[in-house]
Amino acid sequence: MKTKQEKKRFSGTYDGPEKKLEIQLKIHHTDRGDKGLRTFPVEAWKKVAGAGRAKIISVISTDALDAYLLSESSLFIWKDKLLMITCGDTSPVMAVPEIISLTGKDRISRIMYVKKINNHTNGKDAGFAKETETLERLFPGKHYHLASHDDNHMHFFNSGRGEADRGSAGITFQIYMHDFDNAVMKGFGNIDTSSAFPSELLPVFNKVIPHMAVDSHMFEPSGFSLNGIHKEQYLTMHVTPGREWSYVSFETNVFIDDYTDVVSGMVSFFKPQRVSVVLSLNGQLRDAASPPVLFRGSDVYSEREKKSVDLDYGGRVLCQNFSRNAPVEIIVRVAEHLFKDSNGSHDWEHTQRVVRMCNKIGKTEGAEMDVLTIAAYLHDIGRCRQDSSNGKICHAAAGSEMAETIIENLDITQEKKNNILHCIKSHRFRGQVIPETTEAKVLFDADKLDAMGAIGVARAYLFAGELGAMLHNPDNNIENTHPYSKDDTGYREYMVKLRKIKDKIMTDEGRRLAEERHSFMDDFFKRFLKEHNGEC
Ligand SMILES: [Fe+2]
Ligand SMILES: [Fe+2]
Repeated sequence: MKTKQEKKRFSGTYDGPEKKLEIQLKIHHTDRGDKGLRTFPVEAWKKVAGAGRAKIISVISTDALDAYLLSESSLFIWKDKLLMITCGDTSPVMAVPEIISLTGKDRISRIMYVKKINNHTNGKDAGFAKETETLERLFPGKHYHLASHDDNHMHFFNSGRGEADRGSAGITFQIYMHDFDNAVMKGFGNIDTSSAFPSELLPVFNKVIPHMAVDSHMFEPSGFSLNGIHKEQYLTMHVTPGREWSYVSFETNVFIDDYTDVVSGMVSFFKPQRVSVVLSLNGQLRDAASPPVLFRGSDVYSEREKKSVDLDYGGRVLCQNFSRNAPVEIIVRVAEHLFKDSNGSHDWEHTQRVVRMCNKIGKTEGAEMDVLTIAAYLHDIGRCRQDSSNGKICHAAAGSEMAETIIENLDITQEKKNNILHCIKSHRFRGQVIPETTEAKVLFDADKLDAMGAIGVARAYLFAGELGAMLHNPDNNIENTHPYSKDDTGYREYMVKLRKIKDKIMTDEGRRLAEERHSFMDDFFKRFLKEHNGEC
């Protein structure tokens, strides 16, 4: 969390460093019964925090764990393990000598220091080598570097082979979220310093630790930290809002077979542009045949890369990077699911043809292509409701209602969202709403063109087949037949709708294409009647 002064200093490129120090003590039989690290008074931990440029704000405890909430960081103390997580200028490495003065050097079995940075220096971080110099002199160890294509870098320093990580059950799971949603950000800044709890996240935290004790703090002028603990388990979240950069980190030592629900809950609240999930496995978990699933991705987030690194002491770090899909990409994925059980005449294939036609006409007509493409993908999502109500429900109206929720969280303006809904509402040939915007006119034309020409004829008979209609019924006056009945034949569709479409087309490019398709269709039905009458 930043003070006003620190924010000023970071007004340029912010590299968002997150640092983590883990210290594991040797486990002696003589320790049984005593509280190990937890025997040191709060005054001692104040000095440790101070040496790392942090200040203790509050503390909560269980029988196994003390969780200190610090300025810009958290400090967790188990009997035989210490974990300090910080961001910004706080430096946990500088706290090491103070920790050694408490424990003695020889009692430390392993030190691990991790720094995660997001910068534009190809991962070259002179600072990391410098920071670990003192550590290395005291505890010889090894450096590791995990880089990703989008300039996320994790630098590790590890010294020593850790004994069984009793405090952490051998696992640490982290979520790093960059550039989160502006509206969400407002909830974490410019409010009075006070404890606050984003209640929307409670169900997510409950998936990790139900019934946890919680300690949280809202910083002035912005930022938020939270520690949650139960027995030996912890979770911690730090939120750093900012217009040019923003960052959220989440970490827990709770083992879950599949963290997808937890990650999904976090990302649907913060809506970050980029997400990294990191799992550190120690001890016997390292070689587990099927390690936990970090995040399966979603319609909104796609995996960009997956990495793993084995550490010398026997640990393994798995990392996956995801980024938020572009609005159109998100809609393609959502829409495709919605057409899973649709009828052939108005299915995903029809939608894709309409999208292709929108692309052709839209560019000629100067339409806003993102609005048009999203509207095209969603235009018939209400069709199943019209079909199941035998035509009583208007699929354009129903579809626009459904789309409202789907596009609600897209990163596009409200004006564009309104236009998308208008396009869907007004695309129906028999509808009452007239297309008013260029995008709505193009979608109307593209959709109608798919009911014309060779495709139009094929779809008319496909639709008739779906209704169980006859191939042709010359005995009935078409004026007296009804839609959604056995008389709703392909020829009836041509007579009541398809042959009239060309005169309703709204754009120049649409009219040009419609002329050609109309004449093909006209020839087809002339021939159809002749063949039906046995004339040729
Ligand atoms: Fe439609
Ligand atoms: Fe359609």
